[in-house]
Amino acid sequence: MTSDPLVVNLHAEVRAVLADPRFTVDPVPRPPQAPEAPTVAWLRGAVGRFAEGAEHAARRAAGEAVLAGLDPGTLRAEAFRLASPEGGPLPCPVELIPVLVLAVALGVPAEDGPRAVEAVAAVAPLYLPVPGADDGGAAREAADAGVALLSRLLGEPAPERLAVLAGLLAQACGATAGLVRAALAAGRADTVNTRGTVEGLLARTLRDDPPVRALRRRAPGGREVVLDIAAANRDPRAFPEPGRAPGDEHASLTFGAGPRACPARRVALALAAGTVEAVLR
Ligand code: HEM
Repeated sequence: MTSDPLVVNLHAEVRAVLADPRFTVDPVPRPPQAPEAPTVAWLRGAVGRFAEGAEHAARRAAGEAVLAGLDPGTLRAEAFRLASPEGGPLPCPVELIPVLVLAVALGVPAEDGPRAVEAVAAVAPLYLPVPGADDGGAAREAADAGVALLSRLLGEPAPERLAVLAGLLAQACGATAGLVRAALAAGRADTVNTRGTVEGLLARTLRDDPPVRALRRRAPGGREVVLDIAAANRDPRAFPEPGRAPGDEHASLTFGAGPRACPARRVALALAAGTVEAVLR
């Protein structure tokens, strides 16, 4: 028997579900072995995001170790440089500058950065997946080709390492692009220039127009639970004066919470800040 998903939209309840390990993600089975050419289905089965228990913990830790080696200040400066109009034509659409900088920081040669961006942009919608993105045909083929190309651009790492690096890039893509787009729109609309610092602009954007709008879990007993992050961020009980509060990115649930919370908050904010700052100056 199937039942409609339970939608949770109160800030405290969303946070409680995210903190409770009895609410699980639907695990994607581990592939029996790495295929000859890695595919997006292989990638999904090999990352922490779609694993549970000890497997999730180990794969998450591998990603955190890679993230710990990245310097947010350097990432921000590089995003700023590449997104600056003085730097000449943009190497890729501006909202994908964070992915470009991240790909190079993870080992893609700088001259191959734009190709890596195209590969990640093809992989990302089928990795998460975005509803309607998997047409079973051209989009899936492009995503599979994207994973294989990323492997080559990253120097053909061992499958476990490829899963960590490609997983980080696929996770980063849609969310950072959404944040950059929304922050640029908010910054441009702000003609009286009340936006203050770029950090404030990003924090308000993350709370009010979150690039990740909903998360999903399976409740004990099997019912699907949809966590409405956008609504929780506007919950009047958590944010009594949403119009006036200075945008508190730690109170907003846009990076998730609990054992599966985004491990890349600092990296994401640095990449978005450098990009947005270069454009809105
Ligand atoms: C504005 C940008 C970003 C937002 C809003 C965001 C948001 C999130 C959220 C809400 C989750 C939790 C998903 C869940 O609980 O089901 C998550 C997980 C994750 N994010 Fe991010 N993210 C962003 C950028 C990034 C970047 C740049 C990276 C990599 C460099 C990244 C890597 C990850 C990974 C690996 C996970 C899975 C963690 C796990 O399953 O334990 N994210 N992200």
